[in-house]
Amino acid sequence: MTEQAGAPFLYVVVCAAGIASGVGKLVTAAQERGFEVGVIATPAALNGFFDTAAVEALTGRPIRSAWRTPADPRPFPPPDAVVVAPATFNTVNKWAAGLGDTLAVATLCEAYGLGVPVAALPCVADALAAHPAYQESLERLRGMGVRFGEPYTGEPQEDGRRPEFGWERALDLLDRA
Ligand SMILES: Cc1cc2nc3c(=O)[nH]c(=O)nc-3n(C[C@H](O)[C@H](O)[C@H](O)COP(=O)(O)O)c2cc1C
Repeated sequence: MTEQAGAPFLYVVVCAAGIASGVGKLVTAAQERGFEVGVIATPAALNGFFDTAAVEALTGRPIRSAWRTPADPRPFPPPDAVVVAPATFNTVNKWAAGLGDTLAVATLCEAYGLGVPVAALPCVADALAAHPAYQESLERLRGMGVRFGEPYTGEPQEDGRRPEFGWERALDLLDRA
């Protein structure tokens, strides 16, 4: 775990896409760039999509997925920036529609009002990305200032391997003026 007094606090929202298994790379890269990191996973993402114990060891904080009870203190400080990686078809559409049925998507919805920079790395197959609702969601979220990485489908290349997801793209997008 990397703790730095006064370091900016980054929320990393993780959705249930197969590529989520690599999210530790994003946490480490963010810490190397001076962020303290708190991870918020969708309930579906906690269902075996990544090594939660390893990620908690990296951040030094429990992964959040459910709302706290009113009596509990806020587990994370307010965010200075938010990234969602991987962002699923489901979460992107709910986010754009303003639905807050998971802590993860409600956190994304709230980030707009907080005025903090938000970057998203979708991992969505072409067949799903073709849905008009998804295209409208991207347009709406871009209009809200969300910075999107290039489309990534997760499909294997001709050599059978999946292309690199490029986790650091999320941090590069935050750096953009
Ligand atoms: C092994 C596996 C891999 C998946 N990969 C993706 C993916 O890359 N992108 C995606 O949008 N959905 C993917 N899904 C479907 C999502 O898990 C599903 O839509 C889920 O409801 C998303 O919930 P969330 O957005 O709350 O995380 C995958 C499902 C499974 C079982």
